[in-house]
Amino acid sequence: GKGAAMVTAVAYRLATQHAERQRVLDALRLSREQLIEVKNRMAMEMNRGLAKESHDKAAVKMLPTYVRSTPDGTERGDFLALDLGGTNFRVLLVRVRSGKRRSVEMHNKIYTIPQETMQGTGEELFDHIVHCIADFLEYMGMKGASLPLGFTFSFPCHQSKLDQGVLIKWTKGFKASGCEGEDVVTLLKDAIHRREEFDLDVVAVVNDTVGTMMTCGYEDPLCEVGLIVGTGTNACYMEEMQNVELVEGDDGRMCVNMEWGAFGDQGELDDFCTEFDRVVDVHSTNPGKQRYEKMISGMYLGEIVRNVLLEFTSKGLLFRGKLSERLKTRGIFETKFLSQIESDRLALRQVRSILQHLGLTSSTCDDSILVKEVCSVVARRAAQLCGAGLAAVVDKIRLNRGLPKLKITVGVDGTLYKLHPHFSSIMHETVRDLSPLCEVTFLQSEDGSGKGAALITAVACRIRDSGQH
Ligand code: GLC
Repeated sequence: GKGAAMVTAVAYRLATQHAERQRVLDALRLSREQLIEVKNRMAMEMNRGLAKESHDKAAVKMLPTYVRSTPDGTERGDFLALDLGGTNFRVLLVRVRSGKRRSVEMHNKIYTIPQETMQGTGEELFDHIVHCIADFLEYMGMKGASLPLGFTFSFPCHQSKLDQGVLIKWTKGFKASGCEGEDVVTLLKDAIHRREEFDLDVVAVVNDTVGTMMTCGYEDPLCEVGLIVGTGTNACYMEEMQNVELVEGDDGRMCVNMEWGAFGDQGELDDFCTEFDRVVDVHSTNPGKQRYEKMISGMYLGEIVRNVLLEFTSKGLLFRGKLSERLKTRGIFETKFLSQIESDRLALRQVRSILQHLGLTSSTCDDSILVKEVCSVVARRAAQLCGAGLAAVVDKIRLNRGLPKLKITVGVDGTLYKLHPHFSSIMHETVRDLSPLCEVTFLQSEDGSGKGAALITAVACRIRDSGQH
């Protein structure tokens, strides 16, 4: 009768809504074939970045770092380190001990960099950095000390030696003017001289990936890859000198800062991108750039999720079709919410309270389920894309060395990797699946980037002081 017809109508509507949601989510799901394709394209881009003739046009820059050896335990001394480009800006004092009491001891202080400073002039940014160093020296009771300094500067830099780095382009929301194309060591020294209070001996410019690899390498000599999945994402690894065509010489190996976040900037990822990725890109501080990073790292995942939720809402599939001002606000979905929402211990009603906390008050229980599913699909894709990239890296190292099997350790740092409940396991699984001939161990680094900069500085000082080259 009439009742049955109504039930059928409701069932039909629910089924279409379900299909509609899945159609949107399917665009964010990658097949195994697609992931293999990502791995292969990454491998191709690595070669293009390394070769002299294609380097300028290549999306993945494969930058030489002038770091050639890992610590051997004989380095020692007190060092300062700066860490700029992650979630926080930090100044560190690192004491490295050699011999039997081999150890690394650290003191550090976190400083905030106000948004205005991040996006003001370069002089303001570097004056602020020097102000923080002065504050730290004072705080540690060592004003006037002139220690060797390692500068972890986590942005793409062209290096022609260890203690110099020309910023190619800002990433991750930084855009202080007058820095691109300049040597950041000079910018730092100029700011120190403007202050006329102390002098510093800047020994090394270090990417956070390289610092992480070095820190983990101090404990595990098999560690020859560094990976960051935090605000941004990037990797470095030990490449054969004969493949590093931008640097003279064929002997030994050099660490290469891949700057893999830029993968996709020449269309390599167009086949896998969704409309959501395009919207997030267009509204970022660097449209068209860092396309791979924008599909993977913490700074962007929340925005992807928000845009999917917007789409669902405007189609009447979520929040009773009501587009709140809150949901229309950029940046409301911080990464930590993604991690919380996906936490297995969390009951759905807690998902709802997180949504309420975000000002998304009109949510129902079904809404919570859908929001959680969106978060999970977006994070899974990120972890798989990252794993596909890493699979290309470890397989390249294996092929470089002509080995049928490779045992290798990857040093990892970054908030998304460390705090998200599923990211790391999905990424590991992807690497295992796509690079079956590599046995990969993942080692989390504690404070890798700052400590690593100090270790690299220590190695450089050891070599300099012993008069070797
Ligand atoms: C961005 C930077 C890169 C850094 C990464 C992780 O991709 O360009 O240098 O390593 O973020 O912090």
